[in-house]
This record gives sequence, structure tokens and C-alpha cells, in this order.
Amino acid sequence: MMIDWMAAFAPRMREAKPSAIRELLKLLDRPGTISFAGGIPDPALFPRDEIAATSRRILAEQGAIALQYAPSEGYAPLRDHIAASLAAHGVAGTRDNILITSGAQQALDFVGRLFLSPGDEVLVARPTYLGALQAFNAHGPVFGPLPGSGSNRAALGSGAGGGESGRARFGYVVADFQNPTGECLTLPERQALVANAAAMRLPLVEDAAYDQLRYDGDGLPSLLAIGAARAGGIDAAGIIQCGTFSKTIAPGLRIGWIAAPRPVIERLVVVKQASDLHASTLNQMIVHEVASTIGPAHLERIRETYRARRDAMLAALDRHFPDGARWTRPQGGMFVWVSLPERLDAEDLLPLALAARVAFVPGRSFHPDDSGRNTLRLNFSLNDEDVIAEGIGRLGAVMRQALAG
Ligand SMILES: Cc1ncc(COP(=O)(O)O)c(C=O)c1O
Repeated sequence: MMIDWMAAFAPRMREAKPSAIRELLKLLDRPGTISFAGGIPDPALFPRDEIAATSRRILAEQGAIALQYAPSEGYAPLRDHIAASLAAHGVAGTRDNILITSGAQQALDFVGRLFLSPGDEVLVARPTYLGALQAFNAHGPVFGPLPGSGSNRAALGSGAGGGESGRARFGYVVADFQNPTGECLTLPERQALVANAAAMRLPLVEDAAYDQLRYDGDGLPSLLAIGAARAGGIDAAGIIQCGTFSKTIAPGLRIGWIAAPRPVIERLVVVKQASDLHASTLNQMIVHEVASTIGPAHLERIRETYRARRDAMLAALDRHFPDGARWTRPQGGMFVWVSLPERLDAEDLLPLALAARVAFVPGRSFHPDDSGRNTLRLNFSLNDEDVIAEGIGRLGAVMRQALAG
């Protein structure tokens, strides 16, 4: 007898539908299509030679450690390295404040597992990172607006916390070069957010995936740094920071981390154990070695490359996009966020764009409430300047046609 798989799945998983956009974006493989859809680094910037040499050396000299089971907390020298770079940014802590995860995405999944029960509220900016919504969605939460972030900026000072339901468990924030908008919270916004959350005893989950990718302007203190300074240390601050080496070394190594008060880390270690025991030790050792040797110089190369691409995209948008469209001018990260006149729906434009051999992600997916239909996300990290100019030219023509129609 055939099993009725739909009935066998947990109810929450029955509802998870494959996205229509994902189906459409399969057309990206058509030759000549220029994609601004992915959120991925340029593979030409992966430090392949260094990774190859480092991994050969580690296997020769420390193979028994690199290939053996290891503690769930992560490779101690890598945890020390992360603690030291946090200290350099004003957050004094030790390796006991750090858990190594399989990318920041796993960190978000773990935060969901640790804090959420069905019906709990998570406060998020609108728009926000789709992968965070997906990670938290596994636990059946409702999403409320996070005051003082993204399009909810006007509400700043109205009191983060309790949320509409009074059951808010945490606020999720990408303070630097947000995915999808590319925007940063200003210093006063950061301070107010941390102060409000502290007043309401609301944990803040800070996703710092892009904080290293700044191309101009001065860096701002992280929410973790602001929280630790206010509270007198990382252990007293209500901030859980998720970081990653995906954007600065290579995402395929799947190495990220959580920096948090010790009681949170201790509990997350139990979650890590149950999930996959520990992150790949060989990859942690490679990341530790590469980050502590070529790390800063390599980051500078990435910044230079992406800065030029960001500039090329903004110049092409100025040239080719019709009046009535607006876009962000990010100082870093990987994305530009476009708002079209209200009457246009980016999901209707996507098939037309694909026919013109150019792709983007419609903005609705980044909104937990299905709003943002007139918005779209463009990635600038993957293609070189000429390709960006050509692709934005094609997209501009599609926009003009849609506006004329
Ligand atoms: C805001 C944000 N957080 C987390 C991630 C996941 O990163 P990782 O590769 O470390 O899992 C991404 C990836 O694009 C991201 O944009």
C-alpha cells in the first residue's frame, strides 16, 4: 500500500509550498541570461590556492584531529580568533561566548529552536532576510513589526518589545547592509533599538552576515557592542549575534558562529549536539588558518571588487531606470533594493524580464505579510561591471514597457 506522504508529514510541513518564483528562476540557466537574483559571492574571489595549500598542510600535520569527532562548541583556536576580533570591536568576551555553527543559517535555525513555540511572536523589519523567515517558520511563529528598523523606522521610540501579541520572544535585525535592502541602521537607531529592547527585556538577534563588506563611510558599532557597553559586558547584554565566513572566505565551507551570553551558548551547545554534533573540523581549521593569515588583505580585495560593481549598478540604474522608480544607495553588502510605482507588481514583471534574459528577486518574498509587491532585489556582487550595465539596461527597457502599458 502506498503511503499518503502528505498525511504523514507534520502539519506545518504540509503547508510549505515550493515557491513559484523558484520555479521561474530555474530559467536562469538559459544561455545569455544575466542574473541579479542570487545573493552569492563571486567565486573568482574564493581564495582557492590558499584553501588548497592550507588543507594539505592540516591533513599532513594534524589529520588525526581534523578528521576525528570534536567538541560541539567548535575548534578552540577559531573560537578564540572570533572572540579576539569581537574584542577589537569593543566586545570583551572569551571563547565561552562563541559557538561555531554550520553557517549563519544554522545559527538562525538554532535560535528558532531555542526560543520559539508555536504562536510565539518574532519581531522583524519589513522587508527582512527570507532565510531567517524560513528558519523561524519551522516553529510556527507569528511575525510582528520591529519598531525602529526598515520600513518601520517611523515607529522608532514607540517601544520595542512585547509586540502586538505580548508574546514576542525576540527581535531579529540585520543592522549592516541588510539583505534585501542594503541599508544600515544609523547609530541613533541602533542605540534606541538596544535601549528599547533592554527596557522590555526582549532579546535581540543580530545577523551580522554583511558587516565586513563596507565600501565607504565609517563603520558603526554593532548592536552587540552597544548592548555590551550599556550592560557592562557581553554576558549581561541581551544580544545574540550571528556571524559567518561565507561572505569573506567561501560559503561552501559552511562555517559561521553565534556570539552570545554564556547561558545562551551553553544551551545552544545542546542544540548543536542534537543537530549535527559539530561543524566540520577540517573546515574550521582551514577557516581559522586562512582568516588569520590572508584574511585582512583578502577582505580588502573583496571590498574593492564589490565597490566597483556597486558603483556600476548605481550608475546603470541612474541611466536606464524610468522616473518613478527609486532605489537604495548602499554603502556595502551585496544588494540594491528597488521600489517601483505602486501600480506595478514585480512578480508580473519577472516573466517579462526573463524573456529579456535578465533576472531579479521580487520583493514580496522578503515580507512576512505578503506586502512589498512593487519592490525587487538586485544583487551586484556576482557580475562584473560590463555585465551589470548590460543587464540593468535590459531591465530598464522592461520597466519602461511595463509603465507605458
Ligand atoms: C542576512 C543573511 N544572514 C545569513 C545568511 C546565511 O549565511 P551562511 O552562508 O553563513 O549560512 C545570509 C546568506 O545569504 C544572509 O544574507
